[in-house]
Amino acid sequence: MRGLFIMMVAVAATWICGAMAAAELTFNPDNGSKESLTMSTGQVVEYTAYRNIYYVANVEDSAYQYLNIFVPQGADDSTPIFMRNYVGGYMAAKAWDINPGDASGRALAEGYVVVIPGVRGRNSTVTKEGKTVYTGRAPKGLLDLKAAVRFLRHFDKVMAGNAERIISDGTSAGGAMSSLLGVSGNNPAYEGYLRAMGAADERDDIFAAVCFCPIIDLDHADMAYEWLYECTNNVSRPLTDRQVAVSEELAAQFADYQNGLALTKPDGTLLTADNYLDYIKKFLIESAQEAGKNITDLDMEEYLNYVVSTIMLKSPPAFDSQGVEGARPSGENEEFGDEWGSSVNFTEYSLRKAMGDEEATLDETTAEMVRMMNPMRMMADEGSTVANHWYIRHGARDRDTAFPIPINLATKLENMGKEVDFKLAWDRPHTGDYSLDELFEWIKDAE
Ligand code: DHB
Repeated sequence: MRGLFIMMVAVAATWICGAMAAAELTFNPDNGSKESLTMSTGQVVEYTAYRNIYYVANVEDSAYQYLNIFVPQGADDSTPIFMRNYVGGYMAAKAWDINPGDASGRALAEGYVVVIPGVRGRNSTVTKEGKTVYTGRAPKGLLDLKAAVRFLRHFDKVMAGNAERIISDGTSAGGAMSSLLGVSGNNPAYEGYLRAMGAADERDDIFAAVCFCPIIDLDHADMAYEWLYECTNNVSRPLTDRQVAVSEELAAQFADYQNGLALTKPDGTLLTADNYLDYIKKFLIESAQEAGKNITDLDMEEYLNYVVSTIMLKSPPAFDSQGVEGARPSGENEEFGDEWGSSVNFTEYSLRKAMGDEEATLDETTAEMVRMMNPMRMMADEGSTVANHWYIRHGARDRDTAFPIPINLATKLENMGKEVDFKLAWDRPHTGDYSLDELFEWIKDAE
């Protein structure tokens, strides 16, 4: 009996929390302003804008935790929602206005409802009791995007657009966020945080994810980087002997990681470190041919040396750099830091190097944050609802992360039976929202 009473109180408390949170979230469909946008083609798009709408009940950082909604004339309840985030460098992103020059403007012109959420990031702060508090360290940026998705579901019936057809789009760290939204739908690992934020008590899975050059798999990105680019050492980046040793040690870790993923290529054979360069080559040749180049073969070492001649490589370790051979913290080291502005190592390799302790291990909290921010891990978690449609692009001369990182993402999703459109886009550096004709054709087919 006592047990039953406690259970009833717990259920009531949960319900009250949910109801209170939901009661404070508001959306008034009559509060929009009528505006128009002129595209570079001269096309004029009429739409209704709803701005500065808080998507959580317990707003911690009012500079970011709201969204803007743009509803083009003619949109109805069945119109898909294009959700563009402007996260870059794992930094905070404003809820910007519609931009005729990128995918947000194009989506509006194509008739989609466009949503632009603000997102906290590693550099966002508020002042609490005279102290600077960092509001957006991992996994808070992702939580904000999930809360925005939940908000759209919560008001789906009163808002134009179909919250069961949310297409997320982002570039680089924003592409990482887009991929994380796509793979981690409804995963209980995030639930407690979302409740505490006062996110709507709704599902947060999405329909499709568009990911341009996603900077992901951060706990394995260093090894992939050195494995791929080791052959260019001392060509474009000057390294000390000790940095060369770091590069070689990291490169040597890649084969075990890659082979352990047990990914298969479309022909059913295993994708391994041994055949990986050929797999990359196939994507490069396909995209070169599509761009009209008369290429039938590539010398990969020559090609990689060409890539690093266009822009200098990152020093090893490319991501978890803090304290390794005197390197400064990277943006990623800050991303995994705490609300007081710390920056931390997030791989055992760099932690041990930085501490000079071969036995050092990551603390549990950091390890869990690394997991929650890694789409390769979250997609394999049984608590995740994974989006069915994926559009992934990485520039053929983008050296911000190594080619196996986005290729593994695409391949693992394909192996799960998802619909994946992946290319190493010819001659593209680290950039996004290009080839919009191609992107919006794909979206039309996915719908
Ligand atoms: C971005 C670029 C990087 O090289 C990186 O390590 C993280 C993020 C970016 O452009 O968002």
